[in-house]
Amino acid sequence: MTTDSRTEPSTGLDFPTGFLFGAATAAYQVEGAVAVDGRGPSIWDTFSHTPGRVLGGETGDVAIEHYQRFRDDVRLMRDLGLQAYRFSIAWPRVQPSGRGALNQAGVDFYSRLIDELLAAGIEPWPTLYHWDLPQPLEDAGGWPERDTAERFADYAGAITTALGDRVRQWTTLNEPWCSAFLGYGSGLHAPGRQDAAASVRAGHHLMLGHGLAAGLLRSAGQQVGITINLYDVLPAGEWDVDLDAARRIDGLQNRFFLDPVLRGSYPADVVHDLAGVTDFSHVRDGDLATISTPLDMLGVNYYSRHLVTGRPAVGGDGHGGEAGSGASPWPGSEHVGFVKGDLPVTAMGWEIYAAGLTEVLERVAEEYPPVPLYVTENGAAFADEPDPDGLVRDAERVSYLDGHLRACRTAIEAGVPLRGYFCWSLFDNFEWSWGYSRRFGLVHVDYETQKRTPKSSAFWYGDLIRGRQGASLTGH
Ligand code: FCB
Repeated sequence: MTTDSRTEPSTGLDFPTGFLFGAATAAYQVEGAVAVDGRGPSIWDTFSHTPGRVLGGETGDVAIEHYQRFRDDVRLMRDLGLQAYRFSIAWPRVQPSGRGALNQAGVDFYSRLIDELLAAGIEPWPTLYHWDLPQPLEDAGGWPERDTAERFADYAGAITTALGDRVRQWTTLNEPWCSAFLGYGSGLHAPGRQDAAASVRAGHHLMLGHGLAAGLLRSAGQQVGITINLYDVLPAGEWDVDLDAARRIDGLQNRFFLDPVLRGSYPADVVHDLAGVTDFSHVRDGDLATISTPLDMLGVNYYSRHLVTGRPAVGGDGHGGEAGSGASPWPGSEHVGFVKGDLPVTAMGWEIYAAGLTEVLERVAEEYPPVPLYVTENGAAFADEPDPDGLVRDAERVSYLDGHLRACRTAIEAGVPLRGYFCWSLFDNFEWSWGYSRRFGLVHVDYETQKRTPKSSAFWYGDLIRGRQGASLTGH
């Protein structure tokens, strides 16, 4: 590949002063050290050790040893020029049974990580829950039980008290859609249950936990937000049933979370669609007021679009492009088909559709009360491997990131209060039910040796952050 083909796409990609550029990981995907310093098991330990759940039987037991290697990893972040690092705190590491006193050794790890980041001039951007529920709480019923929301708020209060002096911005949950509907609906994610009604209750209790935690944090003077995964949902055709399919999937994917969190109400049409699944008697007076506690930021994770149909003959896999043959993650709308469009796809099979990122950002800004937005995840998996000279040339990722950053800039120009962008992911890592088979990193990881090798995209991104667009990448 020529130098030109890698430098050209970044031309003119400028952002407002103060715009925050970072990269993201999550505890179970990178840390390893699952039985170290008092960490207890999470639902992902149990799930990944259950045969047939994760491709190749892989687990996060070792992952990329971020727990041991965090100092080197922070140095790498600094060298690349990252301004912020979005990571998650493993609840079972800091409160192994999901209740009671904190495990000091676990807290100390995050304290050291935060100190290391600050010393390197990198803003720590922690998420309190990226899917790793302590197993004892799942044994007590998990997110479909209301008590789990209370447990989450207790944990959130305790850990943010311990670390809050050095953190500017907290995030409660990452992608509650996945926790609820993949965890308890399709069973594709931990804990792997397949119970439509339980998945809807789980969604509510996740948001309730968020709201309770948000109230606690704000009264302690902390800034708080939540990260939701949004899709641009489009009908595959002009038929009424396709339009209805798009309304339904938009309802479950986007509005089921946006409306309670930002408006304090469930969307009426979604409640109607779910009539055969649940009567919503799990929602108590005051819950929606708690859930809609004002936020300091909304995190948006964006990867692709959903192209949907209500025509059975057109069909689709019914699972939104996810692998596996479990039940549907779309309670009450199981008939909807997910259609493969004609756009290029990533190694996940997800269509590359940058315009959808502008769409979802503009939609939130136009239809909901004002809140500062951050893209907290965006990125792509490709089959990256080092060339014989040791370099990892991931031109497809550069092109993906370039397109999506341009989509961000278009949204900003249209007046969207977008304040920052985090690439998923900083490192290749454990990609949930896909194990280590899907590489999302800016930095390649050799899983045999744990060697980190920044890919072309890492240097490209670093140059963008430093405002050196168009600088030569020769030598990378
Ligand atoms: C998101 C998750 C993140 C990662 C990316 C590819 O849904 O939040 O952990 O797996 O997808």
